[in-house]
Amino acid sequence: MTTFWSTYICVLTIGSLIGLTWLLIGTRKGETKGSVDQTMGHSFDGIEEYDNPLPQWWFMLFAGTLVFAVGYLILYPGLGNWKGILPGYENGWTGVHEWEKEMDKADAKFGPIFAKFAAMPVEEVAKDPQALKMGGRLFASNCAVCHGSDAKGAYGFPNLVETTWRWGGSADTIKQTIMGGRIAAMPAWGEILGEDGVKNVAAYVRHELGHQPLPEGNDANLQAGQQIFSSNCVACHGPEGKGTQAMGAPNLTRPAGLIYGSSLAQLQQTIRHGRQGQMPAQAQSQGNDKVHLLAAYVYSLSHGGQGEKKAQ
Ligand code: HEC
Ligand code: HEC
Repeated sequence: MTTFWSTYICVLTIGSLIGLTWLLIGTRKGETKGSVDQTMGHSFDGIEEYDNPLPQWWFMLFAGTLVFAVGYLILYPGLGNWKGILPGYENGWTGVHEWEKEMDKADAKFGPIFAKFAAMPVEEVAKDPQALKMGGRLFASNCAVCHGSDAKGAYGFPNLVETTWRWGGSADTIKQTIMGGRIAAMPAWGEILGEDGVKNVAAYVRHELGHQPLPEGNDANLQAGQQIFSSNCVACHGPEGKGTQAMGAPNLTRPAGLIYGSSLAQLQQTIRHGRQGQMPAQAQSQGNDKVHLLAAYVYSLSHGGQGEKKAQ
């Protein structure tokens, strides 16, 4: 802060305090003599106004706030460039600074616990109740917004407990997914295949791969759909439609695992316009040790926990 603004703030603040003190004392009325209340001397429709002094408690409260203000401004930064006489505010007071101090304290306290788990393989950590508790808390505050508090996903966000892995379910792959994030790239096929092509291949995906019924009277050509699938989709989704984890292309033979829906209309929409699901990277915001716990927590959900997520 420049000297000008520092002075400006000091003059305003100290001036206000002096002004308020003067106002409080200058307008204070002594105790009334005698026991009869005095009135202001005017009357409206027989209603009169008493001229009593301020209640003692009110006066003391006001005086107390003034004393508090002076004490605070001496102890803490607040008056322009004044740093306060308490230690720890040499760089002034900022919310970020306070947060960093709290984080340092937390790191010193929890650092050794995190380090202990970070040195163990994820599969082992996934069996430790204390680690799972910590991982669960991290999950609740960082992941539940998208994956749900039960980790069972929502439209556009994969279920981490059941169905199939899009990117892979080994402990290392899960950790890699969380650390680096993932960006899925399903191309848009509307212009390439035309509307009939989209309808045929969507019906093929739903009926032949997903083993789900087609609506009554659906006239899609499943054979044409199969042909389109073989020439356009197998490169990513595999010859049997079971997916390729290296590129996050999902298994299309388990409809429950489709995050964009498995109704004919939803499949057509996905195929027509493509999809770009994004899992945000956590390496920067959480750091390795926390991600290690998160990976263990996610791993535990489908291993001996509540779920049975399949490799394929
Ligand atoms: C370049 C690789 C690639 C090709 C080629 C490809 N896909 Fe995909 N597909 C993906 C990826 C990656 C995803 C996951 C998108 C996401 O998660 O946002 C996906 C997602 C899908 C989904 C949605 C899955 C869900 O979870 O809801 C369907 C349905 C689908 N693809 C069908 C097809 C069909 C039909 C074709 C051929 C016409 C095709 N894909 C071609 C990569 C591909
Ligand atoms: C902004 C929403 C969002 C947040 C927050 C988020 N995720 Fe995800 N996550 C996604 C999406 C979307 C995908 C699927 C990407 C795709 O389409 O392939 C995903 C995929 C994953 C996968 C891969 C699933 C598979 O089948 O391979 C894992 C594991 C995962 N997330 C764990 C986490 C963890 C742990 C956290 C908390 C640190 C987290 N996610 C936070 C959106 C999110």
